This record gives sequence, C-alpha cells and structure tokens, in this order.
Amino acid sequence: MSLEAEVARLKDERHAVLLAHNYQRPEVQDVADYVGDSLYLSRKAREADRPVIVFAGVRFMAETAKILNPSRTVLLPDLKAGCGLADSITAEQLRAWKAAHPGAVVVAYINTSADVKAEADYCCTSSNAVKIVESIPADREILFLPDMFLGDYVRQRTGRAMHLWVGDCPVHARMRPEDMARTRAEHPGAPIVAHPECGCATQALPHVDRVLSTDGMVRFAEETRAPEVVVATEVGILHRMRRLNPTTRFVPLDAGTVCPYMKEIDLEDVRDSLAENRYVIDVPEATAARARQALERMVAA
Ligand code: 13P
Ligand code: SF4
Repeated sequence: MSLEAEVARLKDERHAVLLAHNYQRPEVQDVADYVGDSLYLSRKAREADRPVIVFAGVRFMAETAKILNPSRTVLLPDLKAGCGLADSITAEQLRAWKAAHPGAVVVAYINTSADVKAEADYCCTSSNAVKIVESIPADREILFLPDMFLGDYVRQRTGRAMHLWVGDCPVHARMRPEDMARTRAEHPGAPIVAHPECGCATQALPHVDRVLSTDGMVRFAEETRAPEVVVATEVGILHRMRRLNPTTRFVPLDAGTVCPYMKEIDLEDVRDSLAENRYVIDVPEATAARARQALERMVAA
C-alpha cells in the first residue's frame, strides 16, 4: 500500500482531519483535507468536528488549534517543527515590555508561543494585521510583536505609531531590497508579490505590486493573467500556485527561501502520527484560557 493510501486509511480509522500549511512539502499538501494560510487553518481547526486534528505545520499553529478547539486531540507529526520568529520573544520578555508601557494594547502575531499569546489582547495573522490594528481606538498605545517587518508594514498602512518588537523570521528576513532590485531587472514587467515578513518588503514597497499573506498569494495566482510573477516568500507555496495556474510562470525571488521548520514533516511522519497518536500538543488550560480571547478576536476579524 502506498504511503498516501496508508494516510487516507488511518485518517478514516481515526476520524481525523489533516490540515497543511502552504509551505508544507507538496506530497503532504496533496493528502491534506485543507491547505491554507495560518488564519484559514485556525478557522478550520476551530470548527473541526472530528476528534483528531493532525496539523502539518509548525508548533504555534498546533497550539492555536488546541486553544481554539480544546476538546480535540491535536497532533503535530514532528516536534522539531518550531518557528525561529516565535522563538524571538518569551512571555517573560513580553511582561517586562508591558511593564514599561502600562495600559498599552498588545497585538501578537500568531507566530508566538501559547505563553506569549496569554499576555496579548489581540492576535493577528499576516492577512488581518492591518484590520486588527485599525480596530483599536486611535488614542491607545500599541505594542506589536514579534515581527518588525510585518509591524513596519502595518505601521505604514495604518499610520499608527506602534512600538515594534525587534524580531524577525530568519527565512524571510534574508531577502533584502538588493534581491528585489536584481529580480526586477532580470524579470522586467513581472508583478512581484511579497509576504510582509520579508526583509525587503517594507523597504522596497514601491517595487512590490502586492504584499500578501500566503493565501492572498494563492488567490493572486488564480486570478493573474501575467505571463510571469515573482514570488517573495517560502518556496513551498509555489506548488499550489503552479497547480492552480499552469499558464503563468511563478519565479521565486530567491530559490533558497526554504523554512527548515516547515520541512521537518514528511509523509512518513504524518502516517506515524496517525498510527501512533504522536505528538500530542497540549496547552495548560490556565494558559489557554488567557490566550483564547486574543485568538477569538483574530479568527473573527
Ligand atoms: P501566513 O499566515 O501568511 O500563512 O504566514 C505564516 C508564516 O509562518 C509565514 O512565515
Ligand atoms: Fe516561522 Fe519563518 Fe518558518 Fe514562517 S517561515 S514558520 S515565520 S521560521
């Protein structure tokens, strides 16, 4: 029996739903029930009525699923699937930052640990960060964390004077304005779509046609009639874009933009996760209860 067939059989046996992020390996995306960005997958996890959720993504996504749907068993197929950006701030550091800005509203990107979310007023993803910040009364001071490039982009879009945590994603931050300029020269006329975590996106904003979440890029791929599009984000997304639109050529801004955490999970891990009920992601209820309101605001926005 093929690995794909084994996964399908075990998924049925366990009454499990398999969620996969847009950066997952193509073969993992292909066996998933739902593929999408972190907001879409959070919503799918929240409404999942099957008893088991297998999250082919990274740890903070599985923790989010558990917080939003606590009666389900949430499995992360490989515990090494962390996130360099989420590691850039601890709950203790956030408490110290809050103490220096009493009364400030805390907006935490979904790419944070459950402990950090428990200290936040709002969570957001790349697709609704602007909307969330715009919903906060104009006279309130805002602490935005942990991605400074996303924060700077939101600051430019909203005109809000937010304090930004100096964190970044090691995968996206390596893309610089010089890469943007070079690619533009190599592919004249091709629209450039960029994820807001990119180290190049905010500084090179005039050159970027669209700043989008990963699902935003997928929708762009479906709709574009351009012969060529330059994509500035993790290369795993090219699988969906190319499949949805085989006539456009999707070119990575930098083919080395690979998230090692997202690539930890392969098909065997997914199979073993279902067969051996591993690795169960639990969030202590005291933490989950404090993080839930911020996450509910995120999924509602
Ligand atoms: P999206 O919410 O756009 O899928 O981004 C998640 C992420 O981790 C990007 O690095
Ligand atoms: Fe984290 Fe960056 Fe990987 Fe996204 S691409 S999961 S932010 S390390």
